[in-house]
This record gives sequence, structure tokens and C-alpha cells, in this order.
Amino acid sequence: MANSAGRGLILGIESSCDETAAAVVRGGREVLANVVASQMALHANYGGVVPELASREHLRNIVPVVRAAMVQAGAGFADLDAIAVTEGPGLAGALLVGITYAKALALGRSLPLIAVNHLEGHIHAVLMEARVREQAMEMPLLALVVSGGHTHLYLCTQVSDPGLWRYRNVGRTVDDAAGEAFDKVAKLLGLGYPGGPWLDALAVHGNPKAVEFKFGPIKRRDKSESQRNGEGTEGSEDRRNFDFSFSGIKTAVLRYVQGHGMAERVEARRARLTTALKQWPELRAAEALHEMPEVFDAQTLDLIASFQYAVVGNLLKQTFAAAEAYAARGIIVSGGVAANSELRQRFTAEADRRGLPVAFPTIALSTDNAAMIAAAAWGKFCAGEFAGDDLVAVPGLKLG
Ligand code: KG4
Ligand code: ZN
Repeated sequence: MANSAGRGLILGIESSCDETAAAVVRGGREVLANVVASQMALHANYGGVVPELASREHLRNIVPVVRAAMVQAGAGFADLDAIAVTEGPGLAGALLVGITYAKALALGRSLPLIAVNHLEGHIHAVLMEARVREQAMEMPLLALVVSGGHTHLYLCTQVSDPGLWRYRNVGRTVDDAAGEAFDKVAKLLGLGYPGGPWLDALAVHGNPKAVEFKFGPIKRRDKSESQRNGEGTEGSEDRRNFDFSFSGIKTAVLRYVQGHGMAERVEARRARLTTALKQWPELRAAEALHEMPEVFDAQTLDLIASFQYAVVGNLLKQTFAAAEAYAARGIIVSGGVAANSELRQRFTAEADRRGLPVAFPTIALSTDNAAMIAAAAWGKFCAGEFAGDDLVAVPGLKLG
């Protein structure tokens, strides 16, 4: 590998769910290209990701997306020093497209291949941007990875510079992920997909104290199960429980709708928005509210504001409690739900109050992208931690 440590040009590839993404990042910090082909419009018709369709779309998109990234970066394949790809967690068929492409390219170009955990990628989106801002991050850090598939808390420590990191899982959802709850609640209220951005934009127009949603105690996981999952639990069951549960609040919203005679209004809204979205697939909540205000009654807006207030409050409570218990020196929030404006405001206010630094990715790097995969690969590249020819997709891959 001529010149590799000096340049460190890594092509990152991400295809774990419904985004085909490629990025070129130099030295783990300089994003030369970041291309994302979203399949959102396709899956919106089904109100969720359809795995079979996702794989086919990845297959269609992978070559043009990588080409576009290389053009944007002004680089040729001969300039690359390594290829990084998401190994898991994610949808098996979707992951396979990225991995197969990355392996073929690495083989064809005699480049090292680096396997990256998608969750580690979300964490490194923030670390990379903090490095660029020259924001000092002291160890250990507590990371909340909160997306459509995950709500996980990790204690993160850098074990070599700029090399490797160690992660310890200290909390996770026992049922739905927070993003999944946003998506399901938006769907049951007849709104667009994905639900998070819709609820985020509408919540500011409602009263967050109108409906009180409570989070009860969560049944503690069996210790042997946690250990089988490779999660760090030493002593944690004896101390505090930092797990999450979001399936209850989704059911509570459904009950509220049924119990307050809102079902007819939901169906009317669904019909109007479905028609509007067919004509205008890019339609967003703010425009919908402006164009058809009669569809968004005050009771619905109050319900949305109350739901978001409760979910963000629960994420905040558990994250800061875990940070305190594990003496974290800073907090990172990443993943699609980290784009939520109320979450950013309240986490920032609470962190200021406690004198703890908190960092989020820019909005573009909050949701799935490949720059975060190339960024996470940088330390492994420096440490010479490469994947073998036998790399496979690991849909249930754990971190830590
Ligand atoms: O990280 P991501 O792109 O994909 C997964 O790995 O899941 O996250 C997508 C999730 C979806 O559930 C979406 O509704 C949610 O992130 N999301 C949001 C916001 N933007 C995206 N949730 C709340 N507020 C937002 N502004
Ligand atoms: Zn993700």
C-alpha cells in the first residue's frame, strides 16, 4: 500500500436498510464525497421497509451511487487506500449487496477491506465532526444511538490513538426502537413516512402537556441473556436499569385515538395525505400544514406534542442517569432520531445544566450515510484491522 498512512483515502459503503450510500473520506475527518440514494418514496407506499424490495433497489443503485461518490470526490479507484463496508446489523439481503460489491472492488483493486458495525458508524459520525470542530471529547463517552432499528446506550473508550475503540452496551430497548415508535404513531395518525420528521415538525404546534404518557418500570433482562449477547452488564442489574421500552406508548396513543372519537378524522387525514403524496411525493409536514390546515386539528397536534415530549423525556432521563452512573465525561447522540429538534434542545439544555459536553451529528450525518462508515474505518485502517475474504453479512451483529 504505497503512501497509505499519509493519505488514508477510504471509500465507505452502506446498505444495511433503505439507503444505498457511498462516501469518500480522507484521514477519518475530511469528507470529500457523501452520496445517499434513499428508497423512502418506495417504502412509503407500505408504511415501512420491505426487505425484498430494499435488496433489489440496492442492487440497482450501488454502482451509480459509488460512481457518483468517486466523481464528487474527484478521485479514481487507483487513489483509494481501503474500502470500508457495513457488516451489520441490518437486513441480510440489503447488507449482502454492499458487502458483495465492496469485496469485488477490493479484490479487483488489491485494496484492504474493512468491516464496520453500523452502530459504530453512527457513533463515529459525531466523533468525526467533533474532530473537525476540534471539540475535545474526554473519555469515557456515553453514546445514545437512537434510530428506526436501535435505541442503545454505549460506554465508549478510545484504546489507541487514532486506532481502536471499545464499546460497552449499558442499555437498550426491550421492544420497539424510538424511531420505530415515531414511525408507528405517525402511521396510526394517518401521517407520512418516515414518521419522525412529520411528528417533529407538527409537535411545535401542539401542547406537550395536554396528554400525560407514563413509562413504567421495565422488566430486567435475564443476566445470562445479556451475557450471551456480549453486553457489558457487570453489576448493572444490581445498580440501575438503563433499558428502554417504547411499545407501550404506541399502544397508549392508539387507545387515546380510539377513546376520544378521533378515528374518523385519522382516516380523513390519511385519505387526503395519500392523495397529496401521490401528486407531490416530496410533500413535508410543514407544507401539508400550510396547504391543508383543516386536516390537523388541535387535539391531534396536542397528542403529537405530548407523545414527542414523553419519548424525548424518557431518552433524556435514561441517558443522563447512565452518564452519571458510569461517570461519563461527555454525551453523544446519533442515529435518525438525533435529528429531532426537541431532542436536541432538551439534551443541550440538560447537558449545560450538568456541565457535560453533548455532541450531535449535523442533520445530514444523523440518518444513514456512508461517511460515518468510512470515518469509523479510519482507526481500524491505522491499526491494520482488516476483514478476511470470508466476510459475510451479520444481520444481528452486536457492538461491544
Ligand atoms: O438512522 P436511520 O436513518 O436508519 C436506521 O438505522 O433506522 O433512522 C431512521 C429513523 C426513522 O425511524 C425516522 O422516523 C427517524 O429516524 N427520524 C426522526 C427524525 N428524522 C428521522 N425521528 C424523530 N425526529 C426526526 N426529526
Ligand atoms: Zn442507522
